[in-house]
Amino acid sequence: MTVESQAVASKLSRAAIFLVATLNEGEESLDAVRAMCGDLAGFVRAVGFRDLDGGLSCIMGFGSQAWDRLFGAPRPKELHPFREINGRHHAVATPGDILFHIRARSMDLCFELAMQITARLGGAITVVDETHGFKFFDQRDMTGFVDGTENPVGRESLDAVLIGDEDSAFAGGSYVIVQKYLHDLKGWNALPVERQELIIGRKKLSDIELEASVKPSWAHNALTSITDEEGNELKIVRDNMPFGTIGKGEFGTYFIGYARSPSRIERMLENMFVGNPPGNYDHLLDFSRAVTGSLFFVPPETFLGAAGP
Ligand code: HEM
Repeated sequence: MTVESQAVASKLSRAAIFLVATLNEGEESLDAVRAMCGDLAGFVRAVGFRDLDGGLSCIMGFGSQAWDRLFGAPRPKELHPFREINGRHHAVATPGDILFHIRARSMDLCFELAMQITARLGGAITVVDETHGFKFFDQRDMTGFVDGTENPVGRESLDAVLIGDEDSAFAGGSYVIVQKYLHDLKGWNALPVERQELIIGRKKLSDIELEASVKPSWAHNALTSITDEEGNELKIVRDNMPFGTIGKGEFGTYFIGYARSPSRIERMLENMFVGNPPGNYDHLLDFSRAVTGSLFFVPPETFLGAAGP
């Protein structure tokens, strides 16, 4: 396993920390973040080298306003703030200037890297959401379904996430949308398994996709399967993670989706929250409430390296 920064299409990991932060006022905050951009690869190497089988990786992304403050022009063509959706359900937009998506085989590596990064950044940022994700048995999320099966792999995953000629100044970069969902697990678990399977569009135990003749048009995997005008599937790469706090009775899924254009993920969200056609919405949302929502651009490692002083 390699130790990497900005490796968007990394393999799904067993542990992850999602840090969303806002950028504080003052020129010194901007300088500190730009310096971190240059230092990130070295931090990942230093922490990751302590456990070479740990597969440590870290992705740093920037929100639209933060991009303007930190780097100005040119800016990635499709970078904009997360657009909230008010449909059958509500996809909230919440503050987020910087994202660190830290992944490894074990939490010690993720935690150590998060500590080192935030210690170096000091007062330059305020962490507004920190979620520690874990793998739950055979890649299941808290709903009990296997999550991630239809992710593209290999060349197909690179093609799904990496910007190409459409924005050559930022080729090799990517966009990422994150949303933290809290589940009404009591309500969900009270549903018969057959009903849950219709909502997800797959069998719960075996993870086999439902046959077209029985899969409803409002199944989660029907509403999130989208195509272009020629009928080619438009894929994204997800690395959702379960998280929870027993004492607070909080159980959730941290959704994270990478794509070469945010419009793919936005179309899926529109289908889920408004419905396709409108009203034919995703019933997973009757049991899952989005409490955060932010969009970031992930520059290629060469850009980050050059951003430091
Ligand atoms: C598929 C869970 C949110 C996009 C799936 C599957 C599960 C799942 C269990 C089936 C297995 C698989 O192929 O991975 C969840 C949960 C969510 C969530 C628990 C949060 C409550 C989202 C969001 C999006 C999304 C917000 C995009 C905006 C997809 C896509 C697929 C999928 C693209 C694959 C569809 C296919 O090609 O079959 N999800 N998901 N999911 N989900 Fe989600």
